[in-house]
Amino acid sequence: MLFRSIKQVFGSEAGEKVEVKGWVATKNVIGGLVFAIIRDGTGYIQVSAKGGVTPPDSMDAIKSATKESAVSVEGVVRADGRAPGGKEISVRSFKVLSRAETWPITKTAAKSASYLYDIRHLSIRSRKVAATMKIRNEVVGATFDYFRENGFTLISAPSFVQAAVEGGSTLFGVDYFGKKVFLSQSAQFYEEAALAALEKVWIYQPAFRAEKSRTPKHLTEFWMIEAEQAFADQSDNMSLQEGLLSFMTQRVIQNRADELKVLGRVIAETVLPFERVPYDEVREFAEKQGLPFEWGEDVPTEVERLVSLSRDKPFFITDYPLSARSFYHMTYPDRPKVTKSADLIAPEGFGELATGGQRIASYEVLMERIKSQDLPTEAFGWYLDLRKYGMPDHAGFGMGVERVTRWLAGLKHIRGASLFPRTTTRVSP
Ligand code: 4AD
Ligand code: MG
Repeated sequence: MLFRSIKQVFGSEAGEKVEVKGWVATKNVIGGLVFAIIRDGTGYIQVSAKGGVTPPDSMDAIKSATKESAVSVEGVVRADGRAPGGKEISVRSFKVLSRAETWPITKTAAKSASYLYDIRHLSIRSRKVAATMKIRNEVVGATFDYFRENGFTLISAPSFVQAAVEGGSTLFGVDYFGKKVFLSQSAQFYEEAALAALEKVWIYQPAFRAEKSRTPKHLTEFWMIEAEQAFADQSDNMSLQEGLLSFMTQRVIQNRADELKVLGRVIAETVLPFERVPYDEVREFAEKQGLPFEWGEDVPTEVERLVSLSRDKPFFITDYPLSARSFYHMTYPDRPKVTKSADLIAPEGFGELATGGQRIASYEVLMERIKSQDLPTEAFGWYLDLRKYGMPDHAGFGMGVERVTRWLAGLKHIRGASLFPRTTTRVSP
């Protein structure tokens, strides 16, 4: 008898004896026959028990097994066209390892999304959640491989910080032994310090935003992939981002076909290079849509959604006005109000996946920018200091893991891309 994952059972020959361990997803008793669908970390398989074939104690055990009980099953693999996936296990031994109480998620209860999120510790046991998490896992795994192959070193950075990277309005304050500190919005400044030691760095860690907006793309805590490279400009930065997103997409298409099918999602192959759409062109587009906005404003959410809907492949919106960007952005020498920055936008209405740009490398220029924006120079002391000790041109970006997962999995709301999402209204479970 061989302990197998369910996925392995589908790959084994009819007649083989196997043992699987998992949870009871569904069960049906039809006369003297019991059919159950057992789920493990790799998939779902039908098991069937029948008097005369299955010993009486195992027959009793499978009959009494409740939904979501943890069980162990031994039996013989049978090819059966009626079984999902064409194979089932004919039960020779069935044991309940841990019995589940009456499962609270009834068909009616399952219709309430908010109830499902209230009991997310249980509702995550669904095909769709598992499929989404496997896609997310593919996205993160691809990122590790991509940066390793491109010579980037993975670093770490603190979550307790004192400086606002992306503006003060979305900072969460924390009492730090009587002193007020913040939860990190972005590790960018630490990456900028690290690049003088390691040249090309990346990071993967949680970011926190007190975003009051309740939208389908905002979480208050999310995982960010960030990268920063020395001796690089915004063009290098965009190449790095499109390379990463293409690699992630490729991996998901190649390795997660079953999961995409569960989610009913079809993703198009990406084509390099991605289209670059200047901010000014987006304004023209917005005007044609009857949604004009002032030069200098950030692209309004609805405009971003519409321009995203107008494409079927990811693209960049480039050259944002300085007034719509954080203080550290470098501007064009001949266009002092325009930054060397871009947002990477997912198609089909999903919107922003990443923001990146070239940073100010000069101490004087950065100091002037901080002052002109009335920001507290003290808070940026060490960040400024970096410019005194050999700071070359450099650029980087941040990409939200849940945003990418949401797009690739085709989810309506970003919360589904997190196992235990944090939003304005939810901090439990
Ligand atoms: O666009 P953001 O705010 O850019 C930065 O933080 C830069 N300092 C990053 C850098 O250059 N190193 O955030 C980067 C990305 C967004 O494009 C989005 O994918 C994700 O992080 N993100 C969020 N994801 C979910 N919920 C939120 N509230 C998010 N805010 C940003
Ligand atoms: Mg952004």
